[in-house]
Amino acid sequence: MSEATTLANMAVEVLNTADGRAKTAISRAHAARWAQARADGKDIAVGQATPPDMPARPDKPELLSPRDVPRRKPGTPEGRIALLHAVAHIELNAVDLHWDLIARFTHVPMPPGFYDDWVKAADEESKHFNLVSDSLEAMGSHYGALSAHAGMWRAATDTRDDIMGRLAVVPMVLEARGLDVTPGMIEVFRKAKADDAVAALQTIYGEEVAHVAYGSKWFHFLCGRDGLDPKPTFHGLVRRYFHATLKPPFNEEKRAEAGIPPDFYWPLTESS
Ligand SMILES: [Fe+2]
Ligand SMILES: [Fe+2]
Repeated sequence: MSEATTLANMAVEVLNTADGRAKTAISRAHAARWAQARADGKDIAVGQATPPDMPARPDKPELLSPRDVPRRKPGTPEGRIALLHAVAHIELNAVDLHWDLIARFTHVPMPPGFYDDWVKAADEESKHFNLVSDSLEAMGSHYGALSAHAGMWRAATDTRDDIMGRLAVVPMVLEARGLDVTPGMIEVFRKAKADDAVAALQTIYGEEVAHVAYGSKWFHFLCGRDGLDPKPTFHGLVRRYFHATLKPPFNEEKRAEAGIPPDFYWPLTESS
């Protein structure tokens, strides 16, 4: 690992690392360095760097269009492995999404706390990928053993020039969706008595609330700085960049905890 000199360089180094375990190791080391420097009052400069259009990815898993990814029943061991494999893929994308958010918008002046939040989120996603990969390996599989969705970087590409669009779509729509679906997944693994998968998903569920909250916090910060009304601004950005309606049922309690009120998401269940 190089001694990247700025936060933006650290982010690009993570994005350009292909192997999942190597990516998360570098991600966690850089996050620890940033946090230590901040605690010591010797802040690392944010700097500027050019993130890749697409993050580096391992040769496996093979990435397929969502309709070509085989569906398996969650009631079977193969189905549970497929479900966890899909979660591992989401977590690895999330590592890259958070580092991309850090590197992509350095031309927009933001307080240091913005970077603290996303570095912490990236560190947690790295932990999530490792926990889910450990569970997969305990079940005799591994990340890369199955195919995975190819479309995960779409939201990043679509919002590459719009920090508010990025915050609206990635943490406030996609990560909020994770809050809706994770309790059901925990139930699947609890019924199967897969204790380490249950523990991994509970860690994820607990920590993802904060990622959604960081999204809401910095979205509202930017609305306030630019004199924009948050709710119609959010609706406009999601309709522009997210190519589907939102699907209930929603986890209203956790969404509320994360600072996303019902009148932000319910109107988006209908196409405009
Ligand atoms: Fe995560
Ligand atoms: Fe997250």
